[in-house]
Amino acid sequence: MCISICFFVYIFLIPFSLGNYDKDLKHVLDAYKKNPDCVFNYTHVNSTTIKFFPQCEMVYAIIVINSDTDLSGAQIKNGLKNMNTLVGGIIIENSNITSFSILTSEKTRDGLFIKNNSYLTNVSMLSNIRLYPGNSPGDCVIQVKDNKLLDMEKLCDNGWLAESTDLTTTGNLKNCGCQISEISSSAQNCSATYNGIQLLNVSVNTSHFSNIKLVKGIINIQDTNLQNLSFLKSFQYWTVRSDKSIILNLQNNPEMTRFLLPKIWNIENNAPDGITLANFENLHPDFCLSLSEMMFLLELNLPFVNLQAKFCEDPGDIGELILCRFSSMYDLPNNCDIVLGDLKIEKGDEDDCTKLNNMKFLFGALIVQNTELTDLDNLAACKHIVSLNDSYPVIQFISNKKLKNLELRYIYSITTRGKREAIIQDNDLFKAELGNQSCQLFQSYTEYSEYVTRLVYTGGDCGARVDIKQISTISTNLSSILVTVLIFFIF
Ligand SMILES: *[C@@H]1O[C@H](CO)[C@@H](O)[C@H](O)[C@H]1NC(C)=O
Ligand SMILES: *[C@@H]1O[C@H](CO)[C@@H](O)[C@H](O)[C@H]1NC(C)=O
Ligand SMILES: *[C@@H]1O[C@H](CO)[C@@H](O)[C@H](O)[C@H]1NC(C)=O
Ligand SMILES: *[C@@H]1O[C@H](CO)[C@@H](O)[C@H](O)[C@H]1NC(C)=O
Ligand SMILES: *[C@@H]1O[C@H](CO)[C@@H](O)[C@H](O)[C@H]1NC(C)=O
Ligand SMILES: *[C@@H]1O[C@H](CO)[C@@H](O)[C@H](O)[C@H]1NC(C)=O
Ligand SMILES: *[C@@H]1O[C@H](CO)[C@@H](O)[C@H](O)[C@H]1NC(C)=O
Ligand SMILES: *[C@@H]1O[C@H](CO)[C@@H](O)[C@H](O)[C@H]1NC(C)=O
Ligand SMILES: *[C@@H]1O[C@H](CO)[C@@H](O)[C@H](O)[C@H]1NC(C)=O
Ligand SMILES: *[C@@H]1O[C@H](CO)[C@@H](O)[C@H](O)[C@H]1NC(C)=O
Ligand SMILES: *[C@@H]1O[C@H](CO)[C@@H](O)[C@H](O)[C@H]1NC(C)=O
Ligand SMILES: *[C@@H]1O[C@H](CO)[C@@H](O)[C@H](O)[C@H]1NC(C)=O
Repeated sequence: MCISICFFVYIFLIPFSLGNYDKDLKHVLDAYKKNPDCVFNYTHVNSTTIKFFPQCEMVYAIIVINSDTDLSGAQIKNGLKNMNTLVGGIIIENSNITSFSILTSEKTRDGLFIKNNSYLTNVSMLSNIRLYPGNSPGDCVIQVKDNKLLDMEKLCDNGWLAESTDLTTTGNLKNCGCQISEISSSAQNCSATYNGIQLLNVSVNTSHFSNIKLVKGIINIQDTNLQNLSFLKSFQYWTVRSDKSIILNLQNNPEMTRFLLPKIWNIENNAPDGITLANFENLHPDFCLSLSEMMFLLELNLPFVNLQAKFCEDPGDIGELILCRFSSMYDLPNNCDIVLGDLKIEKGDEDDCTKLNNMKFLFGALIVQNTELTDLDNLAACKHIVSLNDSYPVIQFISNKKLKNLELRYIYSITTRGKREAIIQDNDLFKAELGNQSCQLFQSYTEYSEYVTRLVYTGGDCGARVDIKQISTISTNLSSILVTVLIFFIF
């Protein structure tokens, strides 16, 4: 559902399919049975039907204005004058109207569509309309196409229209930014795109992307032979609207071995408190992220649906941070900011745990077992854990009989390749404190922090017991046979 609020008219656009207005109307009616008096029972607006337009402030309707409409823009506006909220949508296509004083649109999904209105010159009202998706996770589509006299250019960054991250303008007198589909084939000096970068099963001349500074919308690169994203040389500003929708999708690009997107400072998300997601899936088997890139992605608050990647040998520019590769607690230096490798704390390692006091990033799994530790305070500096091997759980706390508290309350995020699992078993105090149902190692204050620390907990302290012999082997040998055992307990 898309909702748009404009100067006088609030419009809730709900998804409806092009060309099947009756079905769409039924959808509107079904969805909003509450107030039948305010339902417009027709779709096409003409001199007959406009008489039945409900004189309500909130009207439920799909309004279609096209070449069959025998009314002027002013007459239509007058008929709709009492409405300040519309739930539904408006389609205006092939009409003779000259001014966008009511909404003119053609619609395929959720959004607002204005198409082939030969005399349309003034849509300044568009910037007074605020379109936002009601229940849908992405942004509303706005398409303004083939209106030969219409100059969109000045409007794109005006008013609420500036918030749109899925705005397509083609075939008008002047358009907003450039269309990726067009610059793919012809050289243009393109510095902004208003409907993202979508490269789906196309081969493109990437040199045409080198001036793009501003991307409004998602980056979606699928089924291409691209090797990395370094072609977005000038990329600097990124605006999206996302609530748990994927805004960075790299999928089925068999030649992609590196990420190499230029660093940006932040992603502007027009959905308040919305969670933006990334998905790196089915790329070249050697696809790797440098630690520096991984940290950049963590800073962007961009959790992954899948992260089918490994860490590159070269950590990249990690600034002053001290990187340690883990072999054992005994061999670990004192002052690591970053630990790379599965961190195993076992019996006898207790006194070495102060070496972890500076650790901010753990790029590996966290395994604590058979220790005499009473707390995990030495991990308090650790903000992020990233484990890129799904063969074993990202966290294993097993048989730490003296632990009084297993919480990792300072952790911001847990990133995994895909599966998000933890085994908690035989830590008796933990069980006594939290009981079966509330196996939760993290403190979550926001929906975001809850999302990025959510794990599937298993093991005796949290529910189904895992065979202890197998588990200890998992931790020390990590063989694939044992994975089967784990999966058995989880599902
Ligand atoms: C629309 O139809 C519904 C029932 O289908 C009816 O209750 C309602 O009064 C009608 N509204 C108008 C404005 O005709
Ligand atoms: C208006 O549209 C309705 C429904 O599509 C149709 O029945 C009616 O004949 C039209 N009236 C005019 C004047 O075109
Ligand atoms: C639109 O304009 C054309 C040409 O001026 C005219 O033939 C047609 O009847 C007009 N259509 C409407 C719905 O007014
Ligand atoms: C665009 O509108 C004009 C006149 O309004 C019409 O003749 C033409 O067929 C329309 N084009 C499309 C593709 O609908
Ligand atoms: C465009 O339409 C708006 C009302 O929607 C009006 O205020 C404005 O003056 C018009 N602009 C031009 C250039 O006609
Ligand atoms: C890509 O575009 C640039 C600039 O237009 C041109 O110089 C270059 O030859 C093109 N490369 C290919 C492979 O078409
Ligand atoms: C392309 O545009 C950028 C800024 O928009 C400008 O700095 C650059 O000189 C332009 N390049 C060409 C070849 O026009
Ligand atoms: C990509 O496009 C080609 C032809 O254009 C088609 O044969 C192929 O099946 C497409 N691949 C995917 C994954 O859609
Ligand atoms: C990135 O991709 C380009 C082609 O787009 C290629 O020339 C370059 O070698 C790649 N860089 C790395 C580090 O793989
Ligand atoms: C995950 O770990 C297992 C066991 O150590 C290893 O065999 C496998 O190659 C690793 N997978 C990846 C993707 O690194
Ligand atoms: C915890 O779960 C076990 C079985 O999984 C059950 O026997 C026990 O009663 C549960 N304890 C609590 C406190 O719910
Ligand atoms: C780990 O398990 C594999 C397969 O079960 C086995 O071949 C290997 O010898 C084991 N390694 C160690 C160090 O026990």
